[in-house]
Amino acid sequence: MKHIISPLDLSLEELNDLLETAEEIVANPKRFSDACKGKKLATLFYEPSTRTRLSFEAAMLNMGGSVLGFSSADSSSAAKGESVADTIRVISCYADICAMRHPKEGAPYVAAQYASIPVINAGDGGHNHPTQTLTDLLTIKNLKGRLDNLTIGFCGDLKFGRTVHSLLNAMVRYPNVRFIMISPYELRIPEYLREEVLDAQNIPYEETRNLEEALPKLDLLYMTRVQKERFFNEEDYIRLKDSYILDKKKMTYAKKDMLVLHPLPRVNEISVEVDNDPRAVYFKQAQYGVYIRMALIKKLLEENETC
Ligand code: CP
Repeated sequence: MKHIISPLDLSLEELNDLLETAEEIVANPKRFSDACKGKKLATLFYEPSTRTRLSFEAAMLNMGGSVLGFSSADSSSAAKGESVADTIRVISCYADICAMRHPKEGAPYVAAQYASIPVINAGDGGHNHPTQTLTDLLTIKNLKGRLDNLTIGFCGDLKFGRTVHSLLNAMVRYPNVRFIMISPYELRIPEYLREEVLDAQNIPYEETRNLEEALPKLDLLYMTRVQKERFFNEEDYIRLKDSYILDKKKMTYAKKDMLVLHPLPRVNEISVEVDNDPRAVYFKQAQYGVYIRMALIKKLLEENETC
């Protein structure tokens, strides 16, 4: 049984195949309208979501499948104390594949141990968000034209931002990629990523607090929200939440072809005046999320011979 818990659960070859399928879907979505007819996707969301849950559901509906699930722990039997292990055993009887978001790191991994259907991690705590990474890769490949030879700036909450952790793990697999980590000291990238991913593979990177100084060097700027829900005290959140606000003036320091990505939701970190800048691609990025999730659901169902 193939599950997607981390972006590294896909080999580079599988990743590139998936991106290719997503591009075929973009070019001719009708060709895939019956690809999952008769199949069911369960969305088990123990944490709030707009894009991930609804793009998973749109993806399955676009391929002729059906969806079922819950959108908060409160509306499921988790509120009565049911374990993830028991829940997934039951869901395995009702659906052919599932996407799970959970506030606890590792919960989708636990689910995968007990599931008899493929489990896709739709975000686990501050850990990983592999389908956001697939979305980001498809966006970069299509709008930048390449996944190699890039200087990528990650800006904002690099400590708790699971989309950053996942994308970093994926991008180090491509040649000549370097990073500039832009964050307050308290929200720096976790030590384990610095040591086990960047240093271990000799990936060039810098750390700075200064967005303006970093901007002229970047091919991509990946902005992130400060993750209020992961802070232990509100005072720290309030102090750090507006550390970076990308506005029109700051965009004048950037290259003419630098792209601005953001997994969304945005709070204050990108001023709405940037939205009409052609380099701001975060809403296109959200659209790509549907196509890559279609490709992923199709692949997993085919591999598990249920599609
Ligand atoms: N990017 C993302 O995960 O958005 P949601 O929290 O709305 O799913």
